[in-house]
Amino acid sequence: MEADQAARQDDLRALRARAVEILRTNDRGGYTVPTDGLYPFQWNWDSAFCAMGIATFDVDRAWTELESLYAGQWDNGLLPHIVFHHVVDSYYPGPDVWGAQHEPRTSGISQPPLTATAARFILARAGDDPTSEARAAALYPKILALHDWWARERDPGGTGLVGVLHPWESGADNSPMWDEPLRATPATSTKFARRDVAMVDAAMRPHQWEYERYIHLVELYRGLKWDGARIWAETPFKVADVGLNAILMRDEQDLLALAQRFGSPGDRGRLRARAERRQEGLETLWDGQAGSYFSRDLVSGRALKIASHAGFLPLWGGLENTDRADRLAAELGRWVAQCRYGAPTMSPDDPLFDQKRYWRGPVWGIVNWMLGDGLARHGHDDLARRLRADFRALVMRSGFREYFDPLTGDGLGGEVFSWAAATALAWAFD
Ligand code: GLC
Repeated sequence: MEADQAARQDDLRALRARAVEILRTNDRGGYTVPTDGLYPFQWNWDSAFCAMGIATFDVDRAWTELESLYAGQWDNGLLPHIVFHHVVDSYYPGPDVWGAQHEPRTSGISQPPLTATAARFILARAGDDPTSEARAAALYPKILALHDWWARERDPGGTGLVGVLHPWESGADNSPMWDEPLRATPATSTKFARRDVAMVDAAMRPHQWEYERYIHLVELYRGLKWDGARIWAETPFKVADVGLNAILMRDEQDLLALAQRFGSPGDRGRLRARAERRQEGLETLWDGQAGSYFSRDLVSGRALKIASHAGFLPLWGGLENTDRADRLAAELGRWVAQCRYGAPTMSPDDPLFDQKRYWRGPVWGIVNWMLGDGLARHGHDDLARRLRADFRALVMRSGFREYFDPLTGDGLGGEVFSWAAATALAWAFD
């Protein structure tokens, strides 16, 4: 028994060392690529997770991760989903397809915001370090500008819910949530060569019909010169993603905590008022009959009644209604009970469930982290422990992979993946 435990400790120690090594290997000099080859630039929410992982062993480098990400911030506050620090042509669509006017070059859409959450996490690890205090103070107005951008450009009507204008902006690129709005989006007529399917089995990646629409949206926005108001008015794809809205809520709460130290009374008042509106906005996505939160198509006005992981993210976001949190935990428990390893990104008994295809079923470490943390915040410790143990078991079995098959535990997509390593260090093996 004791020998078993000692062996397990040794395994964990070795895995932790491997996770640190991965984050160092994927360091391109002040920023971390998600993985070599498949994703050769800096991605927005990947870097926020990486910064938290890196903070467990190098606080100084963790701040640099956020600072290099903010080097891509636009004057209007947008924090792009990709910063192309060094242009390499192994990725499509590269900077010329986006056609955004910024140096360093960037994409033109954003991703789920986690930089206030990450800054708070690093600060907590830093103790009383005055350099950290100064770096957090310098980042604070930039993060505030990002949140003001979300409010101004992606919720012009002040509803409390923001809209995403591209499936990539949700971070869950090919989730079945986007099938309906994407079918109403035209396909590009440009011929293009995907690079992803040259590196990863096509059965684990989005379909071609989806890619043709992803590219159409990029070309449409480029044609509108990335003018926020025109894009908002003219886009065929505009969705209030419950996942992104929940993550935004959490980031804004963390931003409010940063504002207590670094902000003005005016900032705090604005953020408090917004936090209330966000709670009200989120509640409009609740479907009492289904016992779930659903995203909404802001073009057709219809609820997108898809049983995806995003419906549970309000647990991470700071859901105030205990009864709803309990219902969410019970339903998530039912999904996990049908899998060898949870949490799947789609209900396993749904006909759309696809155990290998990206955001249509597989387990993602960062999702386990957010759901596990959210469950624990609401007192559902057993299920939180299960998600943590499952992620550890997946990594032990299959390595630090991009995502995993919930039924077999097989590793899928990219290998040597930065946010899997970060999830291990900051959450699962902590
Ligand atoms: C994929 C994922 C997205 C992630 C990116 C880099 O596009 O869907 O969430 O940020 O890869 O890892």
